[in-house]
Amino acid sequence: MRGSRLRPARQELTNVELVEDDACATGLPGASFDLVHVRILFARAGQDGRLLAEMARLVRPGGCWRIEEPDSAAWTCVPARPAWARLTNVVRAAFSRGGATSTRATNYGMLRRAGLRDIQVRAAVLALADGHPYRGCPFQLAASLRERILEDHLIDQAELEDVIADCESVAADPGA
Ligand SMILES: C[S@@+](CC[C@H](N)C(=O)[O-])C[C@H]1O[C@@H](n2cnc3c(N)ncnc32)[C@H](O)[C@@H]1O
Repeated sequence: MRGSRLRPARQELTNVELVEDDACATGLPGASFDLVHVRILFARAGQDGRLLAEMARLVRPGGCWRIEEPDSAAWTCVPARPAWARLTNVVRAAFSRGGATSTRATNYGMLRRAGLRDIQVRAAVLALADGHPYRGCPFQLAASLRERILEDHLIDQAELEDVIADCESVAADPGA
């Protein structure tokens, strides 16, 4: 639906226009936005340079950017469980072999090299309540990256099955 115009979800938002397009090449007028915001797009798009350039093009002089991205440094389990550490390290390695990363977009250096000034980086760690669906992230990501994980010999199949099973029980443990 490139270039299509979507209706704002709430009718009262009369000054809002939704546009669906490539975030790296929006075609929107340059230097015309007070704020340019992306969320969970850098790691996915894997095109940091193009995305940064488009954000820089869109923001007006003196305007600001906001980037919200997940950071795998926060994928910890308390109390620590060996299977959790093992699986999250395997998932990180699989991401980086695929050219993506879950930390680069929060990297101060990347933003500084892009010529930004007055950079502020804030980290937030969410404690996931019992039953929270994000508790399943490590083994859900491992499942979606399974082929790459095994092809690249990041872990052998038997150990992968074991750590996934362990992580499933950790995720269901109200004491974790
Ligand atoms: C992890 S989701 C995040 C969605 C939303 N920003 C949020 O925070 O809930 C990433 C989304 O970016 C979209 N996406 C990936 N590359 C894109 C691109 N070059 N232009 C526009 N959207 C893109 C994907 O289709 C997916 O819907």
